Amino acid sequence: MNGASSYSGLVDKAFVFILGTSVLLLIGVTGVMIYFLVRYRRSKNPHPAQIADNATLETLWTVLPTILVMVMFYYGWAGFKVMRDIPEDGLQVTVRAQMWSWVFEYENGKQATELYVPTGKPVVVNLESNDVIHSFFVPAFRLKEDCVPGRTNRAWFQTNRDGDFNIFCAEYCGERHSAMLSLVKSIPEKEFNEWLGVDTGPPEGERLLTLKGCIACHSLDGSKVIGPTFQGLFGREEVVTTDGVKRTITVDEEYLRRSILEPAADIVEGYEPLMPAQGNLLTDAELEAIIEYLMEQ
Ligand code: CUA
Repeated sequence: MNGASSYSGLVDKAFVFILGTSVLLLIGVTGVMIYFLVRYRRSKNPHPAQIADNATLETLWTVLPTILVMVMFYYGWAGFKVMRDIPEDGLQVTVRAQMWSWVFEYENGKQATELYVPTGKPVVVNLESNDVIHSFFVPAFRLKEDCVPGRTNRAWFQTNRDGDFNIFCAEYCGERHSAMLSLVKSIPEKEFNEWLGVDTGPPEGERLLTLKGCIACHSLDGSKVIGPTFQGLFGREEVVTTDGVKRTITVDEEYLRRSILEPAADIVEGYEPLMPAQGNLLTDAELEAIIEYLMEQ
């Protein structure tokens, strides 16, 4: 069996063995049960026989299942051990989950919203979360590991071939959980090094909104998602609730800054106070760049 990652075959082997054993036992037990029902039915056997014990049978049904579960354990352990033996010299990528998007950060500081990796090279993912528990799930690699706020979980993988592989969030993390989609993009090492080496400069404007996950909830095209759209935001009149009091405000620079740093301060009518405060998640330069960009929308 040859899957998309170096260890996916091992995981499949354990799965197929356990599934196969279960199906065979199900068929066997059900078959014997039906046979006994017919063979020893009351109309043909009115007087039941008294059977004391059978040492051979008892030994068999103790030893055989023990061997069976030990083989299951072996397959499970063999796959698990490879997944937990993290190759420290692999490419290190910080995977940061946030409501509701993924950010991938490389050692040279480059950030991306898709996970680019070199094909056939070990990649170590250091999993972090900005807010709640998420789970980094790449089904094709048989890789799933939680992103827990306040700690760094680690995992690794090595792809077998070039291609795009789905990334899902596998831990319910709020309304847009199902929209936490991204891709692992496995490309030849040479192309990867070129990609990694291209300095895109400090992220600005729309790229910053993507990296920080803003556009998971705020659209740029006027459509209503979780939060108000950014389109035509600056100078717009909004009805907001501040300390329980409704008032009408005009969106200015001050309002934008406050809404990013203290999102719960003014709640726009028709929306829920769901946004996490961004103070610790943005540098001053990023904050100013976002505000500047928003004023142009
Ligand atoms: Cu993040 Cu579910």
